[in-house]
Amino acid sequence: MTTQKTLTIIKPDAVGKNALGEIIHRFELAGFRIVAMTMEHLTRERAEGFYQVHSERPFFSELVEFMTSGPCVPMVLEKENAIADLRILIGVTDSAQAAPGTVRQNFGTDIQCNAVHASDSVENARFEVNYFFPDIKV
Ligand code: CMP
Repeated sequence: MTTQKTLTIIKPDAVGKNALGEIIHRFELAGFRIVAMTMEHLTRERAEGFYQVHSERPFFSELVEFMTSGPCVPMVLEKENAIADLRILIGVTDSAQAAPGTVRQNFGTDIQCNAVHASDSVENARFEVNYFFPDIKV
């Protein structure tokens, strides 16, 4: 299995709940190495650019509103099979449906305020890592 990089964002709801440290600890306990990390209060343009793939969805403007509501923490994580493994660790998109013990179940609220984002494919990981960390090779 090959080492992969993936992009995660600890979202404004989780940062606002003071859960940043606990979520990062979970990533580390699960074997992810933190390759890069920053805190950014996204502008509307930055949030729209990141989520451009969802621009036609009915929830897009609410999503942008939420993602600009406070600071978030984008990070690049690395390990073998990082993309799939991180999505298992965080749980499904809707926090209300996420399995017990997952990051989204523990720290999120619903389908929008779901505590964290994670890349869902190699192609998207490349775009997303580059969006926040253009100097990092994926
Ligand atoms: P994320 O994994 O960051 O990818 C897109 C985000 O859009 C998702 O997490 C949620 O925050 C949000 N989202 C997805 N589906 C819905 C929905 N049906 N209603 C509101 N927000 C959604």
